Amino acid sequence: MRSHYCGEINASHIDAQVEVCGWVHRRRDHGGVIFLDLRDRTGIVQVVYDPDTEDSFATADRVRNEYVLRARGRVRARPEGTVNPDMATGEIEILGKDLEILNVAQTPPFQLDEHSEAGEDVRLKFRYMDLRRPEMQERMRTRAVITSRVRDYLEQAGYWEIETPTLSRATPEGARDYLVPSRTHPGQFFALPQSPQVYKQLLMMSGMDKYYQIARCYRDEDLRADRQPEFTQIDIEASFVSQQDVMELTEHMLRGLFNDVLDVELGAFPVLSWSEAMRDYGSDRPDLRNPLKLIDIADLMGEVEFKVFNGPANDPQGRVVALRAPGGGEMPRRVIDELTEFVGRYGAKGLAYIKVNDLNKGAAGLQSPILKFLPEDVTLKVLKRVGAENGDVVFFGADKTSVVNDSMGALRNELGAQLEMIAPGYAPCWVVDWPMFAENKDGTLGAEHHPFTQPTCTPDALLAEPLAAKAAAYDVVLNGYELGGGSLRIHDQQMQAAVFEALQMGQEAQSKFGFLLDALQYGCPPHGGIALGMDRLVMLMTHTQSIRDVIAFPKTQTAACLMMAAPSPVDEHQLRELHIRRRDPVAPTGQADN
Ligand code: AMO
Ligand code: AMP
Repeated sequence: MRSHYCGEINASHIDAQVEVCGWVHRRRDHGGVIFLDLRDRTGIVQVVYDPDTEDSFATADRVRNEYVLRARGRVRARPEGTVNPDMATGEIEILGKDLEILNVAQTPPFQLDEHSEAGEDVRLKFRYMDLRRPEMQERMRTRAVITSRVRDYLEQAGYWEIETPTLSRATPEGARDYLVPSRTHPGQFFALPQSPQVYKQLLMMSGMDKYYQIARCYRDEDLRADRQPEFTQIDIEASFVSQQDVMELTEHMLRGLFNDVLDVELGAFPVLSWSEAMRDYGSDRPDLRNPLKLIDIADLMGEVEFKVFNGPANDPQGRVVALRAPGGGEMPRRVIDELTEFVGRYGAKGLAYIKVNDLNKGAAGLQSPILKFLPEDVTLKVLKRVGAENGDVVFFGADKTSVVNDSMGALRNELGAQLEMIAPGYAPCWVVDWPMFAENKDGTLGAEHHPFTQPTCTPDALLAEPLAAKAAAYDVVLNGYELGGGSLRIHDQQMQAAVFEALQMGQEAQSKFGFLLDALQYGCPPHGGIALGMDRLVMLMTHTQSIRDVIAFPKTQTAACLMMAAPSPVDEHQLRELHIRRRDPVAPTGQADN
């Protein structure tokens, strides 16, 4: 139907007859001449109709925004003074001859240009309109390019793309499962996979050696800007590899990708141990663009009278840290109160601070509600350790280690942003040497990665002191986001059984993963892999704030699709076929029906 895409026409086409198709982005009537900005996925071109072409002019007069048109005409240079340097096609225009309306459109529910400030609900309800916006088209294009480069890279490296089922069993990634009732097996359910983890390990046991998949995963968990219930992983697994091999493969792939697509040099990724990351940043996914660091001061606080500090300082599970905010001394009381409330959301009971006015004056040059509780020499040692300078404010967190890490780690991010200390660009890193387990609130153990991760100790040592066990696990982190995670896997049946035992999975392990324990006994190669969040990767590469902006049809914060109104009720007969009887939702008082 067309000879060219709109955005591809340029000065080299002057005098050529062209035919373009697209949507009316804008229509302007300049007294006697009508300008149509015609848009397709490549861009916008201006088509001009004057009254000499009587029929087409009349048609052009009738069109409205988002009408679908086919226009034919001759390319000409724009008259002097009307060249638009901001537009790829700004040097030329098409002098329209023929014009056909392929389809009409109602007035759009929101403006489609870059100034659109439509709420996300409207955008999601009319997603097919939202996706027409040039910036959304650009994001989808970039996503397609990234997917294609990833495939090229992994195929070059000898990886086979193998599809794994999405009608499956529960997989252990720690979220709730999406369940699918079976019609042919009354009362039984498939689970949609939270990741292809178990399948990819079985593929290694099947001798496939190197596998990858652009895999859809499903997790029923609380949603955030970087989480969707349905998302995509670049899922990778290989046999006979070391941790170093997997990390190098991943790093090369990401470096190449950023270079090709964004012309950005990522450089070598720094490697932090999990303990270092928690110590310096209070987080296992530190944003290394932010130079601020937490500094331990428990050793200075053991003897002070101030209970808030000496309690955690003398508690093996406690932590006391200082965080210097350079130039933060000007912060008004109101801002400090807001920050105190901010850390409160992460469980902190307060936020002590010292404003440094003039270090030469000793304690007299400081301003703080806690000075009276601290001996002067201790205060000055703390300030020296954190490298405080005049004009700074130093914040303090003291509590259980997990509370200090959560709250002061979040404060570090917040202060980095408020004080505009986040460097531009990208700062990747690896976080390695993870603990194998973490303690749940109820005192039971949970796997930090997943229960198939290889511990670095023996099965006996693991069972003797599970919380001391480390794992051959590694996360790749970019700008404070967990971009991917992986590990070497257990290939020894005894070790796998020990991990299930530590997790108190006894009978459950047999019923859920008996097939895996069996498979481990039939010649399982050492293997390992990683999965990267594709949506997060594209979000970071396109500088968007939410993964919803890089997914064509995302779900809302409450895991619904506004456009199709999914999830939705189903017919009674469908439920009957699936052997399901509906229960009324749990009453809001919390009293369940029976
Ligand atoms: P993990 O659970 O760490 O590991 O997931 C790997 C990566 O997937 C992305 N991701 C998500 N992205 C969007 N929405 C979500 N709800 C979501 N959940 C996870 C993250 C994360 O780093 N099977 C293991 C991998 C392995 O061991 O090889 C796994 O799934 O970017
Ligand atoms: P209080 O004696 O409770 O009034 O606390 C004195 C100062 O210490 C106030 O500035 C509090 O915000 C701060 N503070 C209280 N608890 C903590 C804590 N766990 N960590 C850091 N600062 C705290």
